[in-house]
Amino acid sequence: MTELLTIRGLTRDFGGFRAVDGVDLDVAQGAIHSVIGPNGAGKSTLFSLITGERRPTAGTVRFDGRDLTGLAPHAVTRAGLAKAFQTTSIFPRLTVGESVCAALAARNAQLRLLRSRTKAGIRAEAETICGALGLAEHIHRAGSALSHGDQRALEVALALATAPRLLLLDEPTAGMSPFETKRVVDQITGLARERGLTVLFSEHDLDTVFSISDEVTVMHQGRVLAHGPAAEVRANDEVMAVYLGSEP
Ligand SMILES: Nc1ncnc2c1ncn2[C@@H]1O[C@H](COP(=O)(O)OP(=O)(O)OP(=O)(O)O)[C@@H](O)[C@H]1O
Ligand SMILES: [Mg+2]
Repeated sequence: MTELLTIRGLTRDFGGFRAVDGVDLDVAQGAIHSVIGPNGAGKSTLFSLITGERRPTAGTVRFDGRDLTGLAPHAVTRAGLAKAFQTTSIFPRLTVGESVCAALAARNAQLRLLRSRTKAGIRAEAETICGALGLAEHIHRAGSALSHGDQRALEVALALATAPRLLLLDEPTAGMSPFETKRVVDQITGLARERGLTVLFSEHDLDTVFSISDEVTVMHQGRVLAHGPAAEVRANDEVMAVYLGSEP
């Protein structure tokens, strides 16, 4: 399979502490690839190095053959990579529809499509994205008035509005009920399959991870402990030992 994202030797120090330690990771075009690991394993830091929110101490990030290492977040987004955050970062005062329209308009402005796209066209696209994430009935509600699960779905909608080729989701189901988790995960995987999106996903719930992922990378103390097809990683005793809290 063609690799869309290729990471080599990615490292990030915070003072004397190495949070991400020489990570190699390949994400295949069209795959749903999960990054798992105990709290503090370095997953969020790794994601922030990919999106340009933080600069790596060492190593490289290549996306579709382009070197993105150390680029600013807006340049990374423009290259076709979008992230929904572990902590909620929606526009609380705007309605759901306004938020998604704003994200779509920003992307169109970047692509200088503004003149060729009508307001009605943007609104229709916003409705499609909201519908795909189960937000259609909330389109006129303020972001702050939504349930936690719907706020997370809105974040995914905002990331999708930038028309990414690679969508990074850092614990999109954090704080959700099992019911909401299933709904959002089903919607994300459905969308990914339908749109040929590549997804890099971090998640604590292993049942969810193993049911939706093509590939799984396991991090522990900043390093890659294991990686491979989901079934293979699930059968790895070392991985399970880390999850049961004992050292491999
Ligand atoms: N800005 C920072 N300054 C210092 N240390 C940090 C900083 N950000 C993260 N760390 C440390 O780096 C390590 C990795 O953190 P990170 O948030 O990447 O882990 P994680 O795998 O995302 O954990 P979780 O599952 O809890 O979200 C942790 O030990 C954390 O305390
Ligand atoms: Mg995290």
